[in-house]
Amino acid sequence: MDEVYTKLQSCFESVKEKIDFHPRVALVLGSGLGEFAQELKVTATLDYHEIEGFPVSTVPGHKGRYIFGYAGDVPVVCMQGRVHYYEGYPMADVVLPIRLMRRMGADILFLTNAAGGIGQGMQAGDFMLITGQIASFVPSPLIGPNIDALGTRFPDMSHIYDEDLQRILIKTALDYNIGLKQGVYLQFTGPQYETPEEISMCRILGADAVGMSTACEAIAASHRGMQVAGETCISNLAAGILPRPLDHAEIQETADRVAPDFKKLVYASIVQMGAYLQTKTEVTE
Ligand code: HPA
Repeated sequence: MDEVYTKLQSCFESVKEKIDFHPRVALVLGSGLGEFAQELKVTATLDYHEIEGFPVSTVPGHKGRYIFGYAGDVPVVCMQGRVHYYEGYPMADVVLPIRLMRRMGADILFLTNAAGGIGQGMQAGDFMLITGQIASFVPSPLIGPNIDALGTRFPDMSHIYDEDLQRILIKTALDYNIGLKQGVYLQFTGPQYETPEEISMCRILGADAVGMSTACEAIAASHRGMQVAGETCISNLAAGILPRPLDHAEIQETADRVAPDFKKLVYASIVQMGAYLQTKTEVTE
């Protein structure tokens, strides 16, 4: 049996032994959202270390654990700390936590992140709905023998960010009177920030925000048949836009400053996603 699939199965068995929880929504917490768990009715947590074979995040400030809990009555599994490709893991390991959340039962993947803003009129502290992505600068997580149990060899990616979920995020932002821009996210491997020349290229390519995560996770989830949503905190303007270097601490500070509004948006959107899943179930029953 394929190595990637075997690892996924053994990680799932390891989780199942410890936790009996059936999430509907899987949430990946980006910078600034680390404390989101406080908003949930938490029923269990599981350190990545406790899952045999699981890639363990090394970025300072990124706690590595799954949090299981409820937003309203929606069962959610959160990743507090994601795995980044720049940490040196193979892409299959970077997306293993995503596939594992699907294996636990989640239908929706809600990706959040912090990113550099490129789009017209963007400011540090803005939020952006991800409407599309450019993943051409990172290896595909689907490279290697196709695992038919996970999805097809050549999956369509034209609607990778689910339109129903996009409508939910837009409506939530309107309800809370929180501004929400829209745009295309581009993933680089990092860990270095971009040069101003690379940002000029991103602009030509049609990207509105640039970061070091998310797009590969969205591909793996979409391959696996999940509905995917993405929301970005524009934590800084991308390289070369302002006449000063990018600074990780400053970027983190901005993400932390706007985190309360980001948390509100994310929490309320998950509640709405739960209602949406409910209506979908009713229709198919
Ligand atoms: N570039 C890449 N990744 C990022 C940035 C950026 O400007 N800001 C936050 N994550």
